[in-house]
Amino acid sequence: MANHDDNLLRKIVAHAKEYGFVFPSSEIYDGLGAVYDYGQYGAELKNNIKSFWWKAMVQMHENIVGIDAAIFMHPTTWKASGHVDAFNDPLIDNKDSKKRYRADVLVEDHIAKIEGKISKEVEKAKKRFGESFDEQQFLTTNGRVLQYQEKIGNINDRLKASMENGQLEELKTLIEELGIACPISGSKNWTDVRQFNLMFSTELGSLADGANTIYLRPETAQGIFVNFLNVQKTGRMKIPFGIAQIGKAFRNEIIARQFIFRMREFEQMEMQFFVKPGEEMEWYEYWKERRMKWHSILGMGDDNYRFHDHLNLAHYANAACDIQFNFPMGFKELEGIHSRTDFDLKAHEEYSGKKLQFFDPQENKSYVPYVIETSIGLDRTFLAVLSASYMEETLEDGSERVVLKIPAALAPVKVAVLPLLKKDGLPEKAREIIDDLKFNFNCQYDEKDAIGRRYRRQDAIGTPYCVTVDHQTLEDDTVTLRDRDTAVQERLSIRDLNERIEALVSINTLLRKL
Ligand code: GAP
Repeated sequence: MANHDDNLLRKIVAHAKEYGFVFPSSEIYDGLGAVYDYGQYGAELKNNIKSFWWKAMVQMHENIVGIDAAIFMHPTTWKASGHVDAFNDPLIDNKDSKKRYRADVLVEDHIAKIEGKISKEVEKAKKRFGESFDEQQFLTTNGRVLQYQEKIGNINDRLKASMENGQLEELKTLIEELGIACPISGSKNWTDVRQFNLMFSTELGSLADGANTIYLRPETAQGIFVNFLNVQKTGRMKIPFGIAQIGKAFRNEIIARQFIFRMREFEQMEMQFFVKPGEEMEWYEYWKERRMKWHSILGMGDDNYRFHDHLNLAHYANAACDIQFNFPMGFKELEGIHSRTDFDLKAHEEYSGKKLQFFDPQENKSYVPYVIETSIGLDRTFLAVLSASYMEETLEDGSERVVLKIPAALAPVKVAVLPLLKKDGLPEKAREIIDDLKFNFNCQYDEKDAIGRRYRRQDAIGTPYCVTVDHQTLEDDTVTLRDRDTAVQERLSIRDLNERIEALVSINTLLRKL
């Protein structure tokens, strides 16, 4: 696993731009905050992640179907879902630096600093006690650690209370009492805390006709809820069943940094699983396990994932957790798994006046199903893949390389076909091979520069296999197949290439492990 630090994130951002994965949006105009464009390799990687998710969800579950709802929805949708009234972040400005922050994040960062102090105490004690060190015992008995923990507990309680009750003055008091300073100006000269709704709005129709304000959806989930009956009836779905969707979502994020981790326009892959009330906890556990398995089979290191239970549950949830990934900035949310009760469907029933219920023939009655939701950010998954796969290595021959060890099934280009020389009929033979492989794989042809430099270029974009065509190829129809990760080459017949590469790079090979 690559070394995790800010420096690594900077390297990934630079590499992603240099090699056509991610560009700042409208860069010729100096970009747009927290909006990014995916380049030629980025688009391929993104498509492969989508396909891996879609196949795992829809194709591999008889009782899950996929839809593609519109981004614009009737404005009442967002009233019913609670987003108009409650999809807010508490904002605070520093009067000296004029920088804007999320008030709750300032407090959370402060808590993280105290947690850092606890980690330091643990490290010190580890060194002091060596083999005999018992971390659990230390955490529950060391006086200084207990003091830090108590402090964190108090801050958390006050943060939770002020957020839940919308007590913005209390949040400001907390920031002042903790002595939190602006990271830019170093001053503690804060404005009051204000609520800021994260939804983008626009007008539908011409202003002259009395246009309606509508929102760009902040989550794809509501497109699924409002179509619950349409899909259930037309698909003759029986509970339990799921509806999956991949699509854009928009949030006017206040703190938009950390590259594609937090964007204003991003993509979600969401699945709502409708279950019988009372059975939701069983399904919640099932989906936790299934989703973690999906991450695990990518082979990016099980240690890089962990569950993080939500202690402060949203009003509609009766259980919720995140799957966190070890990003260069540390463990952060990659996916959310939520038991959302019947909150959304009931709210839409109330606001629309239409019944959104399932008639259960076994029970001989109708009910509003409960929902387990799995919601993962496509862009965050993309960043997770780049973070886990970016490596700087020295090869056996002493040469240096930057390589993206992207899981082969997700790699943008699966195979590069390289004639050793630009003459003697080798380019023609290489083209012949591509003409056969291109129906199954995204291939690339490259004849420029020495073969070593061409391998480096493929390493940098994460191509898992390079086929090299040399003079022996012309004699016996064999080529060398070079493995990106080990740099080991083997000779095999052109006849076997398709099948061999298929087994190594196909999404289906991964899915069989699910
Ligand atoms: N329907 C539930 C929902 O939207 P969420 O935790 O707000 O829940 C789900 O978002 C996932 O969407 C997150 O785990 C994250 O991966 C992704 N996500 C949320 N906001 C994002 C943003 N501003 N930029 C990129 N990804 C984001």
